[in-house]
Amino acid sequence: MVKYDFDSVIDRRGTGAIKCDCLQEWFGCTDLTPLWIADMDFAVCPDITDALRQRLDHPVLGYCSAPDSYWESITGWLRRRHALDVKREELTFVAGVVAGIAFAVNYFSREGDKILIQPPVYHPFRQVIEGNKRQVLANPLLRDEATGHYSMNIDELERLMEEERPRMMILCNPHNPIGLQWDTETLRRVASAARRAGCIVVSDEIHGDLMLYGRPHIPFASVSDDAAAVSVSLGAPSKTFNIPGMCSSWMFVRNPQLREPFFGWLEANHFCEPPLGAIVATDAAYHHGEEWLSQLIPYIEGNIAAVEEFFARELPQVHPVRPEASFLVWLDCRALGYTQQELIDRLLHKARVALNDGTMFGQQGEGFMRLNVAMPRAALLKALSALPAALKQ
Ligand SMILES: Cc1ncc(COP(=O)(O)O)c(C=O)c1O
Repeated sequence: MVKYDFDSVIDRRGTGAIKCDCLQEWFGCTDLTPLWIADMDFAVCPDITDALRQRLDHPVLGYCSAPDSYWESITGWLRRRHALDVKREELTFVAGVVAGIAFAVNYFSREGDKILIQPPVYHPFRQVIEGNKRQVLANPLLRDEATGHYSMNIDELERLMEEERPRMMILCNPHNPIGLQWDTETLRRVASAARRAGCIVVSDEIHGDLMLYGRPHIPFASVSDDAAAVSVSLGAPSKTFNIPGMCSSWMFVRNPQLREPFFGWLEANHFCEPPLGAIVATDAAYHHGEEWLSQLIPYIEGNIAAVEEFFARELPQVHPVRPEASFLVWLDCRALGYTQQELIDRLLHKARVALNDGTMFGQQGEGFMRLNVAMPRAALLKALSALPAALKQ
């Protein structure tokens, strides 16, 4: 069996990688260790690069149609990994999960409509809603200060659905930045409240393949008939296999009353034709990447353990929230006593590290930062070693 290498440091500078080549634009300085935007510093599964290289050996890159094996790679993956039986006609390509969310917002809602999100949450949800002149209806997550655990405020969500009648909800399942996988019962309550209110639930499941500690991912569309009736589900091999530059996302909709007109609109606007690179990379990833993923997940778990040990030992005022999915760790830095700007300034100018500012996910992120741990462990610990001196009072 091949043993994949997650320990070697790969220099990504000069590849156009936002993570390291756009530091000046985002942080105002360049000499920083990038621990932010959510892609991984690991080499992708060689089967993916081999398949792309092999395709490039043919000198013509003309218009291409996705072969059956491309669609089967997605439906087969969902069946094997998530016990989801998705039919070909229920599935389409979209050039990004955020693009898919934006298409749904534009197609199903009108200017001024309310769209429910649960901050702190992946910031493009808010941007897409506001950028399209819809209104954000916020149902902030609950945080138990004694345990540090987050949960969905499901009672409040039911009330908002009934009284505020949002046209749509954008669900993050698992939830970025906390890394929470919602449980079946909570998802069922979301689905029935949404159905009663005539609300469409767009479920972003891009982190669903990266479940940690043996937990299963629970796809929203699978939890009940209500969920199947109200949902638009989105996913991709991009986070899973570190190929977000390939624009390889997909969407499925069970309910033909939603799907047929929506997919017709996507087709009419040429929004759903997979480009050549996406076809080749998706097919290779889903058909040949399973072993790579099964070695990646314990490596990420090891990095999370290393981060937890590091903070417990060296900087106990910072409390990492252990994610149930993915490679992003939500750091509670409130006990340090800094304002958000002081925290950011110290991280940037004293520790020389670039993390995501917690407040970009909503005001509930005040005092928090998001750390990306998907990088070689030794390099991660080296970057973190600058934090105690930079952050101690
Ligand atoms: C929850 C979530 N959705 C979507 C995306 C981005 O997806 P895409 O690049 O396919 O638009 C990310 C990337 O970090 C994410 O965390």
